[in-house]
Amino acid sequence: MADNDNAITRDNDETSGEDLTHGNFDFRGFDVPDLKAVTLAGASDKGKRDRKEKAKGGDKAKTKDKNKAKSRKASKRGSDENASHDDVSNVSGNDSNNTQERHGETVGSTMNKKDTSAKKDRPGLFTPITMRAVTVRNRIWLPPMCTYSAYARDGRPTPFHYQHYVSRAFGGFGMVIAEATAVAPEGRISPCDLGLWEDGQIDSWRWIVDGIREAGAVAAVQLNHAGRKASTGCFAVGYEGQSVPQEAGGWPTVAPSDIPFGALNKPRALSVDEIHGLVGAFAAAAGRAMAAGFQAVEIHAAHGYLISQFLDPLINERGDEYGGDLTGRSRFLIEVVDAVRGTVGDSVPVLVRVSATDWAAGGWDLDQTIVLARMLKEHGVDLVDVSTGGMVSGVSVPVKPNYQVPFAEQIKTKADVPVSAVGLITKSKQAAKILSRGEADVVEIGRAALRDPYWPLRAANKLGVPSSEAPYAPQYVRGAY
Ligand SMILES: Cc1cc2nc3c(=O)[nH]c(=O)nc-3n(C[C@H](O)[C@H](O)[C@H](O)COP(=O)(O)O)c2cc1C
Repeated sequence: MADNDNAITRDNDETSGEDLTHGNFDFRGFDVPDLKAVTLAGASDKGKRDRKEKAKGGDKAKTKDKNKAKSRKASKRGSDENASHDDVSNVSGNDSNNTQERHGETVGSTMNKKDTSAKKDRPGLFTPITMRAVTVRNRIWLPPMCTYSAYARDGRPTPFHYQHYVSRAFGGFGMVIAEATAVAPEGRISPCDLGLWEDGQIDSWRWIVDGIREAGAVAAVQLNHAGRKASTGCFAVGYEGQSVPQEAGGWPTVAPSDIPFGALNKPRALSVDEIHGLVGAFAAAAGRAMAAGFQAVEIHAAHGYLISQFLDPLINERGDEYGGDLTGRSRFLIEVVDAVRGTVGDSVPVLVRVSATDWAAGGWDLDQTIVLARMLKEHGVDLVDVSTGGMVSGVSVPVKPNYQVPFAEQIKTKADVPVSAVGLITKSKQAAKILSRGEADVVEIGRAALRDPYWPLRAANKLGVPSSEAPYAPQYVRGAY
């Protein structure tokens, strides 16, 4: 029941008595170099590199041949990727341990000319995208992925999180979306989730945000309340896939109605006043995200967490203004969107992650998601991040490469809103094709980025993008593929 598709089967690792806070390390006071100087230095190096590339001239053909040979080698190797697909299918078929269960105007002219699948006028993976005042350097983004590593149970990120996020920013991701971060302590999926529910947490994020930005990526954070799927176990606490008992640090959960998820504890139905309070909690957390330096905010309305519990007619049985028809069931999300926008202002992109279906008969589906996406657009949402599932227990999900892309494409076309596609996108050509076919505006690489933080740089190489156009930080240009 983790926002985690990997069945981590460590024995109950009871750590509550141990000091795992990394408290003796405090890198937060480190010197941040002058970002402008770094950028300028990078730019002048880039000029040199460009001249070098031009001078090389004929080397291009050689590179092409090399790439061909490499891709022949890669398809021979194939078993690696296939093995990982198998892993995912197996794991995802397993009800209690899969991802679905737990979570479940173009600018610039850097269109990648060598990206063979790119169609005229369509962006490539390395085409920047601008939303409001923020330009993201490319369309390969890191989706939010919980790491359950706030061992002190205080919601504060640690040196692990710095290393994890900043290395993926150096790996070339355009946007790095930090994992589901709780807007209230009771909204944590597990006791070890990150949080932005109090001002004291802001400083612990700042150095991570600085690190992501310094590496050239846009720093975003996903804000979440887990509702009836809160207070579950994780590798550091034990009780994986179960509710954590109160004596082990668990807490009572809340939801739109008192219907439990699978075998988890029964939640208490929220009062209208409490719902209003939670709208405020999302807005306040967004304000803290701004104070920490985040450049974009994603609202988690997917995977069966609180907001999607309101959306789904199989979960929301309320008779008041927050239940009933689609307008009523969407009210909480729309109020959160408006409140977050009111806090972050007009220049900051607000994204919403949705589950486009709960994969259950009579439940939340694509048609409702399209209507919702139109509402989100009207309320100023800049991009809909399209996932599926995680809302109801015991459903079967047809997991395979690109399995969620058709949902993204339908939402993009029918709601006329920018979308990102995610879910078993593991190969560079596969990702490039999704954009060149116009199925999505952005692709997100999740588990493949857990095994390869440098996925975008490797993709640039595989697609024949010159290293001078790939998202290398100046420090790493000499190591270009
Ligand atoms: C370890 C792990 C943690 C995840 N945590 C989150 C999360 O915090 N928020 C979220 O919306 N999705 C979460 N997901 C789902 C991913 O963002 C992504 O949608 C999913 O893994 C499918 O993409 P992939 O096949 O590229 O991994 C998580 C997935 C994994 C594997």
